[in-house]
Amino acid sequence: MWIKRLGRALAHVPEFTFRRQFSGRIVNGGSCIEVLPDSGSSTLTFPGVWLRDNCRCSTCFHHSSQSRRLDWDKFDTNIQALALHTDESKQQLQITWSDKHKSNYDLKWLKQRSFNAANRCSYLDNFYRPRTRHWAGEEFQQIAAKYDYEQVMQEDAVLEQWLQSLAVYGVALLKGAPLDQGVVRRLAERVGFIRRTTYGEEFIVQAKPGAQNFAYLSEPLPLHTDLPYYEYKPSVNILHCVVQTESQGGSNLLVDAFHIADRLRSEHPEDFERLQKIQVDWNDIGSEDGREFHNIWRAPVICVDADGQYTRINHSVPQRDSHFTVPIEQVQPWYESYARFVRLARSDAHAFKTQPGDVLTFNNIRLLHGRTGYDDTEQNSRYIVGAYLDWDIIYSRLRVLKKKKAEQITK
Ligand code: OGA
Ligand code: ZN
Ligand code: ZN
Repeated sequence: MWIKRLGRALAHVPEFTFRRQFSGRIVNGGSCIEVLPDSGSSTLTFPGVWLRDNCRCSTCFHHSSQSRRLDWDKFDTNIQALALHTDESKQQLQITWSDKHKSNYDLKWLKQRSFNAANRCSYLDNFYRPRTRHWAGEEFQQIAAKYDYEQVMQEDAVLEQWLQSLAVYGVALLKGAPLDQGVVRRLAERVGFIRRTTYGEEFIVQAKPGAQNFAYLSEPLPLHTDLPYYEYKPSVNILHCVVQTESQGGSNLLVDAFHIADRLRSEHPEDFERLQKIQVDWNDIGSEDGREFHNIWRAPVICVDADGQYTRINHSVPQRDSHFTVPIEQVQPWYESYARFVRLARSDAHAFKTQPGDVLTFNNIRLLHGRTGYDDTEQNSRYIVGAYLDWDIIYSRLRVLKKKKAEQITK
């Protein structure tokens, strides 16, 4: 039974007859509710159990913490809607439940949570996490967006664009940063806060005698992801070029390893399968500031989630343990597949050289990065200041920026 709340008196006003026909009905013996927002929209269906679970009253929901406070020890998963009422002027739906509780829902709130496929997809791609676009090395110039450092620091719209580019393509370049050591911290704090690792909060990449890390040499640094030996890997690298070598080398190399994984998946499915299943022991042993460390994390090269989407890539030649804790028959095939991955990545790498004042930012758990070797002398040195940010912090900032923008538009 559709309950129509439109006053007959308004029926002669065309815009009302078209727009306002908010109605609802109980279906499936009380276990589902159908809502028709207006005559121009299609029906939205909501499971009763979900609606009852998400009652917005102050007994069921704590508004200042935006948290559910429903007593789940008593929650009836077979709850039924007994009566339904739509309030046209308030644009609200009221339901009386079989547990005697009454709940009110704003129509706008319901629409945003519609279970239809298009709405779920749009929420996931536009709000949860922007959908990634994978790219080949030759597309680098088109996809690598450049932003002005000062604008990122001052303007929320530019901050949002930078973070959106990072999320979609995994890389973005900021230009015109000052040449002081505080840039990476200020940038990280503009987003949230720095992610600390074994190597500190800010770290200096320069050729150092007695280097505790392979990157702190002037020789070529092969493609890799940083810290594959951490379970909780830092997500985004910030590399601020303060001094660039005048020598031939010192260029950055970048590859979208999600693109390489796509290629393996379609062109060499057996290799893909192995690199996705066989766990590798990644490790890092050393000391920093007098503290010894011994980090190990076991994970495949290509990590995927339940939907088959890539979650992260692990790759480092220096930081792979000599312990390889897999059944012996997996060893040779794994090497073959890994060699294919490494060769594909190498041939797709895009090289470019940052200039003083450039801040290169990229997704450390998606892109592989490296550096060509350079001559390091007193007259000709290279000085990069680095720091990390985490995706949780970046996505959260991006969502807050998007919500604020949407609020301003509707004001
Ligand atoms: C690193 C690194 C790149 C560079 O320190 O891990 O990749 O440009 N550095 O020196
Ligand atoms: Zn309630
Ligand atoms: Zn690195």
